[in-house]
Amino acid sequence: MRIVRLNDSVRPPSLIEDEAPQPLPGRGEVLVRVCAAGVTLTELSWFPTSHGKTGDARHGAVPTHEFSGVVAGCGEDVGGLAIGQEVFGMNDWYSEGALAEFCIAPWFAVAPKPRRLTHFEAASVPISALTAWQGLFDRAKLQAGERVLVHGGAGAVGVFAIQLARVHGARVIATASERNRGFAASLGAEQVIDYRQSRFEECVSGVDVVFDTVGGDTLERSRGVLKSGARMVTIATIATIATIASSAGQSEAFFIVEPNQKQLISIADLLDAGTLRPVVDSVLSLSQAPDVFAGKVQKRGRGKVVIAVRLPAPLPPSPDGMHAQQRPEAAATGVYGIRQESIPHGSFADRRYRSGGARHDGSDRLVESRSPDRRRSGRSRPYGGRRPRVSR
Ligand SMILES: NC(=O)c1ccc[n+]([C@@H]2O[C@H](COP(=O)([O-])OP(=O)(O)OC[C@H]3O[C@@H](n4cnc5c(N)ncnc54)[C@H](OP(=O)(O)O)[C@@H]3O)[C@@H](O)[C@H]2O)c1
Repeated sequence: MRIVRLNDSVRPPSLIEDEAPQPLPGRGEVLVRVCAAGVTLTELSWFPTSHGKTGDARHGAVPTHEFSGVVAGCGEDVGGLAIGQEVFGMNDWYSEGALAEFCIAPWFAVAPKPRRLTHFEAASVPISALTAWQGLFDRAKLQAGERVLVHGGAGAVGVFAIQLARVHGARVIATASERNRGFAASLGAEQVIDYRQSRFEECVSGVDVVFDTVGGDTLERSRGVLKSGARMVTIATIATIATIASSAGQSEAFFIVEPNQKQLISIADLLDAGTLRPVVDSVLSLSQAPDVFAGKVQKRGRGKVVIAVRLPAPLPPSPDGMHAQQRPEAAATGVYGIRQESIPHGSFADRRYRSGGARHDGSDRLVESRSPDRRRSGRSRPYGGRRPRVSR
């Protein structure tokens, strides 16, 4: 299968395209045929990218740990997930990620994909929305009517922090650059502070919760806007742990997002109801992933950069002979299938789309179009017990 992995034999390490054997799911795991993967740019410098769980050196890591795709294989005990099901989710930072045609994830880290979302949109959700959810609700215990300050309100995590806080009945103040002020307001922020023009602590005070995605000086200065009994959570770089301490009547915490199927299902419901909306900064091809991580592709600065890994087959015609993508409601809402206008012209994704993507055999299974040589590739991990079910 095609992968993009870390080349750590050069300095600084960079990403390269490569081939690897298709993995097989073990007990409690599903094999996901990845359609799209979400990018967290800072991931290459994180500990799990260069180290194993026991602290030993790790080489050739496949990055990006959130995805949208189709279940292509199941080990035993996967909580009712089935081959052919469209899912979105995340996997462990220490495991091989989703810049690959297939990845492995534990069943409790994936959930049915929101029906109204394209795979690109769905791939932009898991890590960002779960981080916002866990920070606001599990850690900060945000209550309706409270005031919350979200730093980085136009970023991938910030867009969900604003929306989730608003849906929860909180009053939201956000920081963003000038170009994103109106955008952050459209997500539900009642006050947006341009962090380049103003010092936020001069514009706001007495907040109940700070949700920080920036760290450093922004985190330090945020203490001054908290009222007594307030809570502050930060997700920005583990280095800031050292700066975190409880001060009088206030609590602060750094945390790392964890997979949670129940929360993913709740988030999917909100997305399908249109209460939450995904924000995709741009969609790029797998071949462009090394340039994205090297900072050679400019972000537009709103939401998540998504990599189109391998697109699903076009939906089969309905009884009236019309493809779902051709329906008037699809044109109006951009839901159902793929929004071609968001695929860069001439990219791998574009060629895939124009050629119809993977073949569809008329059932729920997606048929591989790999060469016989690639099909012979061995397994990458041992599996015990019964052989896992894998669609071919
Ligand atoms: N701990 C965890 O579990 C976890 C999970 C996910 C992400 N993260 C980390 O969280 C951070 C944010 O992630 P992300 O994916 O949301 O990043 P992102 O999409 O790059 O967004 C960052 C946002 O920060 C804004 N920003 C930059 N400097 C700022 C400042 N001084 N004040 C206010 N806003 C500022 C930018 O706004 P403008 O574009 O408007 O300038 C940008 O929208 C990253 O360091 C990431 O590694 C941690």
